[in-house]
Amino acid sequence: MEDNKLLDMLMQTPGEYISGEEISRRLGISRTAVWKQINKLRLEGYEFEAISRRGYRLVSKPDKLEYTDVIKALKTNSFGQRLKLIDVTTSTQEEMRLLAEQGAPSGSLIIAEEQTSGRGRHGRKWLSPAGKGIWMSLLLRPELPLSCAPQLTLLCAVAVCRAIRAVTGVNTGIKWPNDLLVDGRKVCGILIESVGEDELIRYCVAGMGIDVNLGIEDYPADLKGIASSLKIESGRDCDRALLIGAVMNEFEKLYELYLEQGFTPIGHLWEALSVTIGKKITVKTARGEIQGTADGLDPSGALILKSNDGQNINIFSGEVQL
Ligand code: BTN
Repeated sequence: MEDNKLLDMLMQTPGEYISGEEISRRLGISRTAVWKQINKLRLEGYEFEAISRRGYRLVSKPDKLEYTDVIKALKTNSFGQRLKLIDVTTSTQEEMRLLAEQGAPSGSLIIAEEQTSGRGRHGRKWLSPAGKGIWMSLLLRPELPLSCAPQLTLLCAVAVCRAIRAVTGVNTGIKWPNDLLVDGRKVCGILIESVGEDELIRYCVAGMGIDVNLGIEDYPADLKGIASSLKIESGRDCDRALLIGAVMNEFEKLYELYLEQGFTPIGHLWEALSVTIGKKITVKTARGEIQGTADGLDPSGALILKSNDGQNINIFSGEVQL
């Protein structure tokens, strides 16, 4: 409570110093208590300048997503309109599964400032530091067979890729099936988890992890050069609320197109944004490594690989090395 009063006071006089004595008098607390609160706020990401005899000045606030900013950026009927913002969670995928089981409607969205056990594909961890990225899960309840779930994965990649290009101008491309890369470095990962019954989809949780404003110092050594952020690639901070809105707007539009016209138009859009098609690649599958040239998508969304001996092989799941 006092933290807010202290912050309110410093925010009301932007750029100006207020002495510790003045703050302690106005809040009715000791100078030591003022200092303790300033340090607590620093840990939350606020930056202050403290100069003896002049006092404290607020330099910057942590970048925190505001509910109203996200809602304002939406032009959707349902995607993102039911919105839950969380400070810290293990994984938004788990949060969304709970909501889905409680009957949350299609289009519900959960966004976390930070994930402590963010999950990637193939059982990997997903780095999700506070306030730097977009860590979110969208609930979909399409009335479709489970075999269509991989097509939703490709659709999601198209939506995020188009949104990133439109908002930031960063030239992202899609590596099959759904990694978004800039010059070979990954800036976004997508994890779609489907729950089915009798071969039909009950619901899908579309998890999107976009590295927005991470700096080079945020990456551990094993990710340097492999992963990157939109800020590193563009040299500018990006407004996360605007980007979330753009992703939802694109996603809803493409999802409606998909439900009306099937996968063909989505497949064409995916191919146009792909950095895999036409390349010589190695695919690691459960049955070993296959080499060849990526030729396109088949109508189901599988990757068609022309193997070195001229055979066409359809790949349904695996990891592509370019
Ligand atoms: C990948 O391995 O490329 C997929 C990464 C998916 C990360 C996102 S972040 C939001 C959601 N919550 C998770 O725990 N994972 C997904």
